Amino acid sequence: MTDTITIRRPDDWHVHLRDGAMLEAVAAFTARQFARAIVMPNLSPPVTSAASAADYRQRIMAALPDGSDFTPLMTCYLTDTADAGDIAAGHADGIFTAAKLYPANATTNSAHGVTDVAHIMPVLERMQDIGMPLLVHGEVTDGDIDIFDREAVFIERVLEKLIGALPDLKIVFEHITTEQAVQFVDSCGPNVAATITPHHLHINRNAMFAGGIRPHAYCLPVAKRERHRLALRKAATSGSAKYFLGTDSAPHEIHAKESACGCAGIFNAPYALESYATVFDEEGALDRLEMFASEHGPQFYGLPLNEASVTLERTGSAVPANIEVVGSTLVPFHAGSKLEWRII
Ligand code: NCD
Ligand code: ZN
Repeated sequence: MTDTITIRRPDDWHVHLRDGAMLEAVAAFTARQFARAIVMPNLSPPVTSAASAADYRQRIMAALPDGSDFTPLMTCYLTDTADAGDIAAGHADGIFTAAKLYPANATTNSAHGVTDVAHIMPVLERMQDIGMPLLVHGEVTDGDIDIFDREAVFIERVLEKLIGALPDLKIVFEHITTEQAVQFVDSCGPNVAATITPHHLHINRNAMFAGGIRPHAYCLPVAKRERHRLALRKAATSGSAKYFLGTDSAPHEIHAKESACGCAGIFNAPYALESYATVFDEEGALDRLEMFASEHGPQFYGLPLNEASVTLERTGSAVPANIEVVGSTLVPFHAGSKLEWRII
């Protein structure tokens, strides 16, 4: 049995670092685990200009503990009125690594999202030309589509058409949750990839209703049936370069989660790598953790691999029930349980 594993330092290709006091509270957790992270732009108001992304990047750097070795990679929140020239200039200036498509009202702070992809076709054409990745929250928002079907329907209604129109656009299908998404990503060329979260590898939809309603297991896209979880585990551990680590760590204060209308989002940043390592170990694929966590992402984004390394050992991490941060309480993923692996 393998009891220690050393891999290149990983990156997180999808994280919500928030702003203000919450940013101050959570930035260190991500910076401890990851060398770089793709930072989601769904602040209120959203990050839609290169100037606001540059300011946000500075606030992130200021929130890091002294001595952190962490680079935030910024994204542009696309709206119906997004301007191709501005976005391309932000990319050329090294401010925007990618742009994020939130269908309007799909999730937290997405009210300003895109109402119809047709509105942003000039932007997407330009992104295709310059090789700038499009990151997609892949869910339709129609109230008449069952919430558990929204990702699969998005593939048929939006993604297939988008790829037909822009076959060379680099697309990351973010936080995939279904076997349909895996089949779709597998069927596309190397310009289409996907991130997979630790929670969608660990839980299926039963977790939201285990003995009562469990708000800390609720996120978007919502966890699906067991067969989908198994398809995600197979994809993540397959060694395919199309799949890489993206935590979608999305902290909300405890009172916003434990509420009559609780927010979507799972805060997994504190033990993310330990959580993934547990899955890869259970699947007999620890030798593929490094590809998923530290290689496929940079290869897709055209960035260098990290040179530093991190070692995990099989001594276990006890995940606390709560994490007290300045002024509030956060409940981490795996709260109150023990994970098999620990970062040394
Ligand atoms: C995210 C958030 O809270 O910002 N929530 C979530 O459940 N994942 C938004 C998102 O990525 O959908
Ligand atoms: Zn997210």
